[in-house]
Amino acid sequence: MSFFSYRGKSLSVGRVPLASLAQKFKTPLYVYSQASLMDQYLSLKNSFSGRPLLICYALKANSNFSLCRVFKELGAGAEVVSGGELRQALRIGFSPSKILFSGVGKTRDEIRFGIKQKILAFNVESFEELKALGEVSAQMRLKASVSVRINFPIKAKTHPHTVTSGNLSKFGVNQKEAFLMYEWARKAKWLKIAGLHCHLGSQVFSSKPYVQAASLAKNFIRQLAMRKISLSFVDMGGGFGVGDETIDFSGIAGAYSQEFKEWPALGLVLEPGRFLVAESGILLTRIVHVKAGGKRKFLIVDAGMNDFLRPALYGARHPVVSLEKKTGKAEIFDVAGPVCESADFFARDLSLCAPKSGEFLGILNAGAYGFSMSSQYNFRPRASEVLVDGKTARLIRRRETFADLIRSEA
Ligand SMILES: Cc1ncc(COP(=O)(O)O)c(C=O)c1O
Repeated sequence: MSFFSYRGKSLSVGRVPLASLAQKFKTPLYVYSQASLMDQYLSLKNSFSGRPLLICYALKANSNFSLCRVFKELGAGAEVVSGGELRQALRIGFSPSKILFSGVGKTRDEIRFGIKQKILAFNVESFEELKALGEVSAQMRLKASVSVRINFPIKAKTHPHTVTSGNLSKFGVNQKEAFLMYEWARKAKWLKIAGLHCHLGSQVFSSKPYVQAASLAKNFIRQLAMRKISLSFVDMGGGFGVGDETIDFSGIAGAYSQEFKEWPALGLVLEPGRFLVAESGILLTRIVHVKAGGKRKFLIVDAGMNDFLRPALYGARHPVVSLEKKTGKAEIFDVAGPVCESADFFARDLSLCAPKSGEFLGILNAGAYGFSMSSQYNFRPRASEVLVDGKTARLIRRRETFADLIRSEA
């Protein structure tokens, strides 16, 4: 269900016309629907019943304080991949007992900080990292919980940049090494084995790789059980796709209950990012110039690839729409940003009725990996963000200024 739709001629979020927000808060502007965030979370939660479930929202998708608060209030945990994200998760109020720390390059300082906070577990991605965790926890004389990220030999069909499984991937370890790591962790005095972790990739639409992963995880957990190693949870990661297709959660949930039925108390952890936030966000932008003299017609807009990188980085396709519906003869345009890069495009061959400079466009499904991947490239201040709850639109991040851009220069 989309929470962005035309009311009369105006694209609106609920009852609030988006053009009024673009006028008030200026553009480029990210707008999020709180109702949509809640709806996505609850629909996911309701799809996986029958065993203890913890949804750890992957902060990397969008780490805005107020947006993440919505999930925290609904009982979610957090999945973080850096010391910065861990600090932000704690600041937001996520309980440390619901925070998982993933990432291939955790430094000793980050590990130390995580141990001190008593987080739920470290998703350990290499033997060296496990040893570092063992060493640091022993120095601190504090227990650290471990979940080994296993890179199962499964191919999830997605963009090459968002595949995180397979033997060429830098993420996780193969099953053989994982086994040795669990054996090692069992003997380490200050480590506690907590779970098993896997994450197949991002923008995955088929339930098949999740079903395969569950079967492999079951076999692995059985082997651990034979060595008297038991787990508190199995973490099947995130990656649920968002776009034209929909993912079949019932197939995945069914496979999880079937494969893990011999361990009814085993908790299930999921780490969705995109699924929870992508469709809840829209990026509003203003047409700066209509450039129609050459072979192609361009709409040059005030948002650039620094604000929203996905189309340039992954060739991701996001619908671009006019905020005010018009009638009349449509023409074909390419929508490009102002950044000095040829990749700075949001749409090609877009059909629009008489667009004029000063008018607003909206880039849909921009809530995930939008603001969080934005930069100040070309010395461009980052955009503002607004959260709409019913009739109330609240600024949840102000636009950066020139002063912000130069603040850290020495
Ligand atoms: C370990 C891990 N968990 C969760 C996620 C979230 O993925 P998505 O936003 O596709 O759900 C990622 C994304 O890269 C990840 O690497």
